Amino acid sequence: MSEFRITGKAKLAGVIGYPVTHSLSPVLHNYWLARHGIDGAYVPLSVAPDAFVTAIKGLQAAGFKGANVTIPHKEAAFAIADEVDPMARIAGSVNTLVFREDGSIHGSSTDGFGYVANLEADGIDVSALASRGPALLLGAGGAARSIATSLLEKGLQVIFSNRTAERADGLAKELDAAWRRNFPEGDAPRLSIIAWDEWEEQLGDMALLVNTTSLGMQGGPAPDWTPDLSKASRHLVVSDIVYIPQETPFLKAARELGLTTSGGLGMLLHQARPGFKAWFGADTEVDEATVAYIRAALSRR
Ligand code: ATR
Repeated sequence: MSEFRITGKAKLAGVIGYPVTHSLSPVLHNYWLARHGIDGAYVPLSVAPDAFVTAIKGLQAAGFKGANVTIPHKEAAFAIADEVDPMARIAGSVNTLVFREDGSIHGSSTDGFGYVANLEADGIDVSALASRGPALLLGAGGAARSIATSLLEKGLQVIFSNRTAERADGLAKELDAAWRRNFPEGDAPRLSIIAWDEWEEQLGDMALLVNTTSLGMQGGPAPDWTPDLSKASRHLVVSDIVYIPQETPFLKAARELGLTTSGGLGMLLHQARPGFKAWFGADTEVDEATVAYIRAALSRR
């Protein structure tokens, strides 16, 4: 590692949130910067909602390459971008901003990419899942929206099931409309919903099951949440976006039935790759060393 890593020419980026103290992104990006010997830094930026636009202009004026954007700024980031990726347009939110040399701002949504990239890193051929059956997404929040968008892009049929049925219905209708607006010539998206008390019964038809709720999370609404997965076909792939604990009760139940599983931390790590590449110019890997480093950071909290 170079002794003089951060010089006067350092490339700068950061994460804008409010609060931002919980963000793992500074740990991850600075780890990758050090490993690649890149002259750069990535800092937490605590910005109140009414100061978002001022902060973006200030970062651009100070020569930042761009920023990640987290709660509560994802919609404001969408609005401030001059150009937005199709998937971010459909998801209606942006988590990665790139400040271009000409002063324009590019926005993208990398959460769905991170989810799919993590499945693929776990050896799951996501496009091939489409021929085996639909994806069943539990939940109807921002994470469900981003993941659904990327699964639709891979050709999967998406079914939502949510405790509050109206939210699942609203999300399916919104995504359907957004998809048709953005891809008027393409195939219509295949979106539907199942009642919250019925999804366990219907598991036999599914190729992929995703928990996008906070159920099973340490400190969340139901840390011991363990649904009945006994109706699953033996090909079902079960994934969880919760990453504390590493193996959620939901994933444990799936593993005990011999099902293929995929955990939540990888999504968080993979979603960071496009921003790192755009700001700092290097491809990164989510390898064992990266996972171990982030796990150690999590365990110190
Ligand atoms: P995010 O944007 O991170 O996805 P969110 O919008 O707060 O977060 O969504 C959290 C999801 O977890 C929702 O789908 C929520 O269901 P409701 O829409 O019915 O609130 C789900 N969730 C949270 N606690 C739950 C619980 N105890 N039982 C079932 N679902 C729960």
